[in-house]
Amino acid sequence: MVALMGFAVLAQDTGNALSGNHLYRAYCLVCHGVTGNAPGPLAVRLKLYPADLSSQHYQAKTAAELADIIAGYRKSGESNMPNWGMVLPRQDQLDIAAYVTSLTRNDLKFRGNTRRGRAIFKSACVACHGEFGKGRGLLAHMMRIAMVDFTATNDMNKISDERLMNTVRHGKGDFMPAWSGILNDNQVADVAAYVRMLAR
Ligand code: HEC
Ligand code: HEC
Repeated sequence: MVALMGFAVLAQDTGNALSGNHLYRAYCLVCHGVTGNAPGPLAVRLKLYPADLSSQHYQAKTAAELADIIAGYRKSGESNMPNWGMVLPRQDQLDIAAYVTSLTRNDLKFRGNTRRGRAIFKSACVACHGEFGKGRGLLAHMMRIAMVDFTATNDMNKISDERLMNTVRHGKGDFMPAWSGILNDNQVADVAAYVRMLAR
């Protein structure tokens, strides 16, 4: 939830992406896959290929529009997509829709493991970014530059997941070291997910 702040604010009156994630796993993943764009285990048995939910076509929709599609989906005869309007209450549809529209926009929370990320953060980032990510680490005041405050939600929302991970991979400015080669891509996602979690 915290990691999705920017998104959650947008989707507040429509759906909760975090509970949508749970519902997605229970009802959709088996066909649409973990990331919405690769066939899940049941999809290989279907006659029709599941829609790519991470595509621009669906990402461009609001959660409410998408919920309508999910609920009212009916295709004559040969559709393999269940009719969710009969199965899930409206709020669940909205939550799932909120999650689906977050699949490519802000999916870090769901890709990274924040528990592992925390351990990485403690060993690799604390010296500069500080124990709580406020930018007051041991080395920070020696650098005499304005440090990002990872707990500042508004500032952090301006940093996309891609930029966040690329900064970790390739470093930034004079002082921020590059971690590619030391942290693999999963570890980068883990620590980035943890950084996201600090903003509240
Ligand atoms: C049994 C497999 C299956 C499950 C489970 C499933 N889908 Fe689908 N879905 C499909 C298939 C196959 C299509 C492609 C078209 C068709 O078969 O009618 C599709 C199409 C879609 C579309 C595109 C509809 C359109 O008109 O553009 C959306 C959105 C969608 N699914 C969302 C979901 C969501 C959200 C869930 C979970 C609540 C879900 N699906 C669960 C198989 C599934
Ligand atoms: C030796 C000090 C140092 C260490 C260690 C360090 N950083 Fe940084 N980091 C910085 C500095 C300085 C900046 C600001 C750079 C700038 O804006 O010029 C920064 C900026 C950032 C930013 C903001 C990027 C942006 O787009 O503005 C992120 C995110 C970040 N660091 C994450 C991390 C993570 C995660 C780790 C641990 C894997 C880490 N840093 C380790 C010094 C450090």
